[in-house]
Amino acid sequence: MKTFINQGILDINQDDLLRLSHIDSLFFDYPWKSRDWLDLANSEQHCLIFDEHYNFILFYLSPLEEMAHLLKILVLPEFRRQGLAQLLFQKAVKTLNPQGYKSLFLEVRENNEGAINFYLKNDFKKLELVQKYYSDGQNAWRMMTSF
Ligand SMILES: CC(C)(COP(=O)(O)OP(=O)(O)OC[C@H]1O[C@@H](n2cnc3c(N)ncnc32)[C@H](O)[C@@H]1OP(=O)(O)O)[C@@H](O)C(=O)NCCC(=O)NCCS
Repeated sequence: MKTFINQGILDINQDDLLRLSHIDSLFFDYPWKSRDWLDLANSEQHCLIFDEHYNFILFYLSPLEEMAHLLKILVLPEFRRQGLAQLLFQKAVKTLNPQGYKSLFLEVRENNEGAINFYLKNDFKKLELVQKYYSDGQNAWRMMTSF
């Protein structure tokens, strides 16, 4: 499993970023543009963890607020329900906690029951239902956990 957290910049191979971008475009309705993925190489505010199959978790970091925003987590369909998201998440906590990040927050589609269940299992609490958070008009649960 590869872990990249900002230490000036994220020192990530371009091929890995393009592969992640491709997977993002296959499995998310509103993927990032490949440019956005490539720009991560110059990021000073992201934490990215992925394994050899490009199952990944990505955070935006707000060091002053000691907070990390979980932007995306994806496990490829053939690997689901085998504890891989759990592994990625645990690795993220082990990486972020010693760096001073004390809380994590995220938004998730109101109807994404699998992901919501995963977050609840990992001690996230529902803070509020944000109306029409997504550009297609869907609501999002804003969720948060503290270490
Ligand atoms: C959400 C997601 C990352 C979970 O990945 P995963 O590797 O299958 O999750 P894990 O196997 O680590 O699951 C850990 C626990 O979370 C819960 N969980 C995970 N997926 C679930 C599902 N589809 N339905 C209900 N509970 C689920 C379960 O409690 C599970 O433990 P169990 O299998 O012992 O019951 C994966 O389904 C996914 O990539 N979905 C598409 C992308 C997405 O929606 N991302 C979140 C929004 S950014």
